[in-house]
Parts: sequence; C-alpha cells; structure tokens
Amino acid sequence: MEIFQNISELRKEISGGKFTLGLVPTMGYLHDGHISLIRRSKGQNIKTAVSIFVNPTQFNRAEDLDNYPSDLSSDITILEREGVDYLFTPDLFHIYPEHFETEINVGSVSLPLEGASRPGHFNGVATVVCKLLNIFRPDTVYFGQKDAQQCSVVQTMVKDLNIDVRVVVCPTIRDSDGVALSSRNINLSKCERESAILINKGLFQALAEWEKGQKKASILKNIVRQKISSSPLNHLEYVSLARQNDFIEQNCAERESIISVAVMVGSTRLIDNVVLK
Ligand code: PAJ
Repeated sequence: MEIFQNISELRKEISGGKFTLGLVPTMGYLHDGHISLIRRSKGQNIKTAVSIFVNPTQFNRAEDLDNYPSDLSSDITILEREGVDYLFTPDLFHIYPEHFETEINVGSVSLPLEGASRPGHFNGVATVVCKLLNIFRPDTVYFGQKDAQQCSVVQTMVKDLNIDVRVVVCPTIRDSDGVALSSRNINLSKCERESAILINKGLFQALAEWEKGQKKASILKNIVRQKISSSPLNHLEYVSLARQNDFIEQNCAERESIISVAVMVGSTRLIDNVVLK
C-alpha cells in the first residue's frame, strides 16, 4: 500500500485514467463497517483508495472532536491486510491551508435531524467530500447506509454540482447483538452497551409492524420511542420517519421510507436507521 499526505504526489500516482478507482472516505479507527465498504470497492475497481482524515469542520462540539478515537498504526495494518492500494492521511493544513474560504451548503436535505442537532455538520461533510472527490477523481465513492442522511447530502451535492462519480451506498454492518458498528461504541460502558441494543430493537420492531401493514408514522415512531426510552441511560434526541432522498417527514410510511434515530447513551451519541422495504 502506498501512503500519501501530499496531494500533488498522490495525484501524480493516480491520474491518467489508467485504471478504475474506488474511494472510501473515512475518519479512521476502522471497523468492519468501513471494511465492508473497502471490500465492495475492491470487488468493483482495479484500485481502491482509502482516506483517513478527522475533519474538524464537521464537528460542532470541540469536545466531540477531541474525544474522537484514532489508531493509525492499527488502521494501516487493517488496510494492508485488506489489500488497499492507496492510503491518504493528510494533515490539517493539506486540506485546509491558510486562507481557506469555501464552504458547500447542500440546502434543505442537510437541515433536519443531524443537520438540526449538529449545526454546520453537513456543510463540513459536503466540503471535505467534495475536496476528496476533486483530489482523487474516483470512478466510484463508497458510503455506509448507517449515515443515511450523509448519503443523501452527498448524492444531492454530486447531482447538483455535476460531479462525475458514482455513489454506492453499502448496508449497515451490525455486531452480533444488533448494535450498528461505530467508532464511538468504544466509549460505551457495559450497561450503556446493553441500553444501546434497545436502539436497533426499537427500529426492527417498527419494521416488523410496517411489514404487518402499519403505515401510520406516529404509531411506528412511538414503537421506537418506547423501546429506546425503556432504559434510563438512553436519551432519545429524535425519531424521524422520512423520505430517504430528501428527508422530508412523512405522516404515512411508504416503501423506502426511513426511520432514523439519534440517541445519547450516557455521554455517547449514536445514530441508527432502518429502511422500510
Ligand atoms: P466515518 O464515520 O469514519 O465513516 C466512514 C464511512 O463508513 C461512512 O460512509 C460511514 O457511513 C461508513 N460506516 C460507518 N459505520 C458503518 C457501519 N456500521 N456499517 C456500514 N458502513 C458504516 O462518515 C464519515 O466518516 C465522515 O463523515 C466522512 C464521510 C469520512 C467525511 O469526513
């Protein structure tokens, strides 16, 4: 695996369209969720690149950024094992040099839910993803369904700005207890981990009711709310039932609607979702 920090050296290596390139953008501390994206890219491209950059502009709380876990040497071992071709680990100044001014605001899809809870978050995500797409010019870029609103923000940006890339969304990878894998799970105590299980239980219970014919958003959301709130360690920030492409709330669930939640489990903020299929 070749490791780059410098943008022009990276570009020299990958430019010229000699091979199909898949890009997996990450913030590191890699787990099986990230690895599933890498494997998908390896199956669909001649070369696969991974970026590891903890992007400060998408964190609205300094504390959250300071506590973000990192372990670059273990990440490199994983990426070597997975047969990744290129790793890009820029320093802050490579991505945001002095006098950096531009910010991408994707509009209405970026405003509710994560956008409302974390003001400026999606401007930060869109800006850094746009930069990464410009740096790599990949054929395909891979994202996880776990961050469903992020996927819609990126898809909207790619369409609106005519960025020439295919966006592939890969399914959420869960632990054996059903908890969606997340770099933040490391911060959960044993009791908090037990409480976190209620998040996916609530979502899948609502999915089962939808499969039995329940379409009322208020009822489906209540199922999720009650399950999650049955532990005093869980504080539900929001539960939403929305259209997946624009995250407009719906009163009546349709096929492909998405139920999303954000939950504070102790002091750890987790998000998860389920698509009604
Ligand atoms: P990060 O949280 O490191 O996630 C990198 C990618 O892995 C995202 O596309 C995310 O949706 C995906 N992912 C995380 N957990 C997953 C899981 N359990 N199953 C499947 N995929 C999962 O998301 C970001 O970084 C950043 O916002 C980024 C896009 C890199 C921009 O800074």
